[in-house]
Amino acid sequence: MKKTFFIFAMQFFVLFVFSQTENSSIAIIPEPVSLIKNTGNFILPSAINIAAGNNQGVIAIAEQLSKQLTVPTGYKVSVNDKTQKTSSAISFKLNSSEDKTIGNEGYKLEVTPQHIIISANKPAGIFYGMQTLLQLFPKEIESKAAVKNIKWIVPCVAVTDYPRFGWRGLMFDVARHFFTKQQVKDFIDEMVKYKYNLLHWHLTDDEGWRIEIKSLPKLTSVGAWNVKRVGYFGTFKTPDADEPRDYGGFYTQDDIKEVIEYAKSKYVNILPEIDVPGHSLAAIAAYPELSCSGGVGNHGVGSGEEIKDWNTHTALVDDNLCPANENVYVFLDKVLTEVAQLFPFEYIHMGGDETFKTFWERSDAVKALMQKEGLKNMEEVQSYFSKRVEKIVESKGKKFMGWDEILEGGLAPNAAVMSWQGIKGGIKAAQMKHEVVMSPTTFVYLDYMQSDSMVEPYIYATLRLNTTYSFEPVPDGVDEKYIKGGQGNLWTEQVYNTRHMQYMLWPRSLAIAECVWSPKSKKNWDSFTKKVESAFKRMDVAQVKYSRAMFDPIFTPTKDASVSDSLKIELSTEVNGLDIYYTFDNSHPDNFYPKYTSPLTVPKQAVMLKVITYRDGKPIGRQIDMPVSVLRKRAGLKN
Ligand code: ACM
Repeated sequence: MKKTFFIFAMQFFVLFVFSQTENSSIAIIPEPVSLIKNTGNFILPSAINIAAGNNQGVIAIAEQLSKQLTVPTGYKVSVNDKTQKTSSAISFKLNSSEDKTIGNEGYKLEVTPQHIIISANKPAGIFYGMQTLLQLFPKEIESKAAVKNIKWIVPCVAVTDYPRFGWRGLMFDVARHFFTKQQVKDFIDEMVKYKYNLLHWHLTDDEGWRIEIKSLPKLTSVGAWNVKRVGYFGTFKTPDADEPRDYGGFYTQDDIKEVIEYAKSKYVNILPEIDVPGHSLAAIAAYPELSCSGGVGNHGVGSGEEIKDWNTHTALVDDNLCPANENVYVFLDKVLTEVAQLFPFEYIHMGGDETFKTFWERSDAVKALMQKEGLKNMEEVQSYFSKRVEKIVESKGKKFMGWDEILEGGLAPNAAVMSWQGIKGGIKAAQMKHEVVMSPTTFVYLDYMQSDSMVEPYIYATLRLNTTYSFEPVPDGVDEKYIKGGQGNLWTEQVYNTRHMQYMLWPRSLAIAECVWSPKSKKNWDSFTKKVESAFKRMDVAQVKYSRAMFDPIFTPTKDASVSDSLKIELSTEVNGLDIYYTFDNSHPDNFYPKYTSPLTVPKQAVMLKVITYRDGKPIGRQIDMPVSVLRKRAGLKN
């Protein structure tokens, strides 16, 4: 009897908890620390006031919400309006005494049928509470125009939320391809929806110098311009001498200030990157005397031609600043004086990656420097350079950060390390008690392909959403206190425009957002992919492009061990619950064709395997037409 009662009570308990927490229409990314779904909805009245108190930061956030609500709803949404007859059912409140649980960026959000209250210790928390609130509204809230016949309801919830990491970044390379200040602002608008708080602005590289430095005008009059090419960046022909160098652009210092102010209003810090001593061809095109070879036969700003041999790590063109030239440090002092005055953020990123030493090795000046300073190898030469640059950065009141190559040859005393070549650099730096930001290629490189190269714009590596989602910023055995957080990196060699930029960002940046904000215990791949589908619908309304690669079929060809020279092909999908249909007869598969259930072997003389995914009887992924010859090659078999 007791047992029966216990089972009954357990069932009731499970049911109760389930109804409190489960609601398929709620899809917040990143997943909050705690979200309890209560019964009922808040219905937005057609005239509403946001009570925002008297903190200027909070009032500004309320004004952002007012704008965001007014456009799609067409309703009157005022802020701190005591004169109008409006319902003051939305309130933003700063806590009078600190709520220790939620810290500086956390918030509590309470939605009841009567009111919406966001409370926080700091305005930043109110801002993130607002992002969660917006994701609770119908997707049409993302519309840039008025939408009729929508019931603007918000489900009743109680949310307590705060970030796992203080550094939640995205890197945007505006050097390989230039993006205007408006495009950068749009980038910021999208990233903050998912509670990112840091834009790493990659401002200089071989193909462009994008920031006005008033004391060095040629950096932008020369360094910001190259020859327009489309196709496969890195393989283009070196431009002819008479080809117009009119492609590119740069930000004036006023532009930079405007973007920084804009970012600040969205609680985003901007980390500027000046990438030296390698990746400096644009600077060298402007001031050839800064390279060890003196810019012999001045190559000009890169236009996507081959300037490095990536297999042998050989520089074909000298794109390094010369560490043995005192004028280089004078140059960097000038650059950093202006950069430090412009950017309020505490760090300046000084690059340090992929400094192929070919021209340093050939330089008598570098040899003399090595002798004078007792430097044993080229890594120590780079370390000498980094340590001097760190001193310049610090003399401007800033902290020095670099890519993990700055570890080679000895890390500068106070340097923070951004670990990109996997996680080992981050581990090493943290063990040396240096600050670390994790941005490993293996998980967060947003320039990599998201699906099979048969259907993706080609780049040399693939990074699928499920791998990105498994990003863990704190490696095993590392003291978490040295890990500031993580970020995704969007390099733009193959990104020529905003639509493709968005395609590469989303949904992988949704995954990264959850990795750097949400508690580890809250991550769940299946529920994440469902939330991504909701996010896609919102992006459709917002007219933001994204990749649906997570629905594509995946081919895993291997040598069939049991039969010589034979191929075994496994098919799979990232998203669970999809059906896979295939053909070997060159016709297009649909759900009347064979359904994949176990590894395939290739019928004699078949040349093409065509595969498509379905869900609930409807096609969902792209059809991939895969030549058998390609699968054989991938499996290491001869054709
Ligand atoms: C890098 O990806 N070269 C930092």
